[in-house]
Amino acid sequence: MDKNTFYITTPIYYPSDKLHIGHTYSTVAADTMARYKRLRGYDVFFLTGTDEHGQKIEDIAKAAGVTPKEYVDKIVDGIKSLWKLMNISYDKFIRTTDDYHEKAVQKIFKKMYDKGDIYKGYYEGLYCKPCESFWTETQAVDGKCPDCGRPVAKAREEAYFFKLSNYADKLVDYYNSHPGFIEPESRQNEMINNFIKPGLQDLCVSRSSFKWGIPVPINEEHVIYVWLDALTNYITALGYGSEDDSNYKKFWPADVHLIGKDIIRFHTIYWPAFLMSIEEPLPEKVYGHGWVLLKDGKMSKSKGNVVDPVFLADRYGVDALRYYLLREIAFGSDGEFSNENLINRINSDLANDLGNLVSRTVAMVLKYFDGEIPAEREAGEFDDELKALAAETVEKAEKSLDTLNFSVALTDIWKFISRTNKYIDETQPWLLIKDESKKARLAEVMYNLCESIRIISVLICPFLPLTSPEIRKQLGISGDFTWDDCKVFGKEATYKVCKGDIIFPRIDIEKELAELEKKKAENVNPVKAEIEGIAKIGIDDFAKVDLRVAKVTACEPIPKAKKLLKLTLDDGTGTPRTVASGIAKWYKPEDLTGKSVIVVSNLKPAVLCGVESNGMILAADAAEDDVKVIFVDGVPEGSKVR
Ligand code: ME8
Ligand code: MG
Repeated sequence: MDKNTFYITTPIYYPSDKLHIGHTYSTVAADTMARYKRLRGYDVFFLTGTDEHGQKIEDIAKAAGVTPKEYVDKIVDGIKSLWKLMNISYDKFIRTTDDYHEKAVQKIFKKMYDKGDIYKGYYEGLYCKPCESFWTETQAVDGKCPDCGRPVAKAREEAYFFKLSNYADKLVDYYNSHPGFIEPESRQNEMINNFIKPGLQDLCVSRSSFKWGIPVPINEEHVIYVWLDALTNYITALGYGSEDDSNYKKFWPADVHLIGKDIIRFHTIYWPAFLMSIEEPLPEKVYGHGWVLLKDGKMSKSKGNVVDPVFLADRYGVDALRYYLLREIAFGSDGEFSNENLINRINSDLANDLGNLVSRTVAMVLKYFDGEIPAEREAGEFDDELKALAAETVEKAEKSLDTLNFSVALTDIWKFISRTNKYIDETQPWLLIKDESKKARLAEVMYNLCESIRIISVLICPFLPLTSPEIRKQLGISGDFTWDDCKVFGKEATYKVCKGDIIFPRIDIEKELAELEKKKAENVNPVKAEIEGIAKIGIDDFAKVDLRVAKVTACEPIPKAKKLLKLTLDDGTGTPRTVASGIAKWYKPEDLTGKSVIVVSNLKPAVLCGVESNGMILAADAAEDDVKVIFVDGVPEGSKVR
């Protein structure tokens, strides 16, 4: 008997940022697959979650002035609500900070250690902090990380190592004896030629330079390397290493780990080696899909070109966005996101092809038969062709979905939608209605249209989980259905339709693109972004800074210090105050003498180029290379600024 369980996973995402359209793409693809398998009667376990440890998170939290846990909690809430919005039907959301996960990871580490696969040594290498990856001199490209292109830095620390080198041959053997383990296929050679053939080095699996991680069970000074922590989520989520491992027994090995191509190496080299070490079965498949790119390349926060799925889903609807992502990009390849393409797809495929088919059909059944198709029907020309294509489409869609070719499945489904629209033009119901003797033929035409739409509602259901029930409501059918229902043409006895809303309204593309441009201009506000990124302080924090008005009584350059001016201030205390200020580039001494400025009066003294400076005066960055001192002429010396 075929296995009737299906276990699919997405990557567990870093909660270091807001998730963007690329993460949404991964997750929507996995969700579509999970829904499809459920419809086919599989017992599905669909896992997603967050990868919360590591130095990067520790650093970000610190900069934000909160604990790492406080930081991730907030972001994880946002991620969960994004998945709710996108209608992601996950069965479990794992967080690597979950207690059961942490315990199981420690057990896994201990098991590897006891086996002799983990030993203590010293790590020396080049470390890429953002990727949390160590590289050798030969792997790094011009002193930069080969993955992300950012600079790497030399690092040496006591660390535990996993004997990855022992697994090189076993990995290659496994790939060769399991075709389809790595997909797309081309990625397999990439792994062998770029990583395994040059020689697999043992992998550093602990860190002692930061704290935010799962402690190494045999040495609490160390935390477990994030990738060992993260990858094992796929089994700890099923209860591996915990008291109740029934889900593990039921669902492991995974049918597919769906990931982006950037992390194939971790999933096809490290992960199988870890599993071999703990003597557990390997996943059936690791599928590395392509990137969602923008015209100017990769999305990144620094470029300010991150596409926000919440904005798009709110504006165009969740199903439209899901459809677009899976239709526009051939799974496995990179693809370009653009608002224009999205709107074009909505207008042509969703509003025109699908939307019109549904609304025309429902309108005709209402007009010609008061909503209910009569029982007396008569077959005729074009019917067989329509039915044949329905059957063929189901077969093709199944094959494409089973191989994760989402865009191909949608293309074929849409061919059937077009064919059904063409059937209306061919049968010309508006002529049939004029001839009383053709009433039974008209009834059959309407029935075939409804049946076709019903079949379409099943086929699109994994992709468009909101639209499918809406269409079925308009067809007047309710209740559960399965994938096999789309294999029967003629399943419903008859139809009693009801008028519903337009499922996908057309968008005026010119107007919409102009509107989006306007919004973009409003949103790209670097000041706003910068202020949002700074940790909030309490009023008490601010109160610690004592600001006073002071008059510049004398000002002179400081020999040897080109940038500095030495200011003598009357701050109302009666004792002259000396301040050195780095404003010589923009102000001459005579510009300042006699002016009133604001001084931070309780700054600890500092010696700058031989001058003891007591405080600093406030100035604004007026431009990239321009500074303006803040003058408050006319305000008495010693006045408090607050
Ligand atoms: O790598 N296009 O997490 P992550 C397509 N925590 N997919 C994209 C994408 C884009 N522009 N950007 C991101 C990690 N993704 C680890 C994973 S798994 C045990 C640990 C998708 O948040 C893609 O699937 O950086 C990528 O692999 C995934 O987001 C992970 O993103
Ligand atoms: Mg990444």
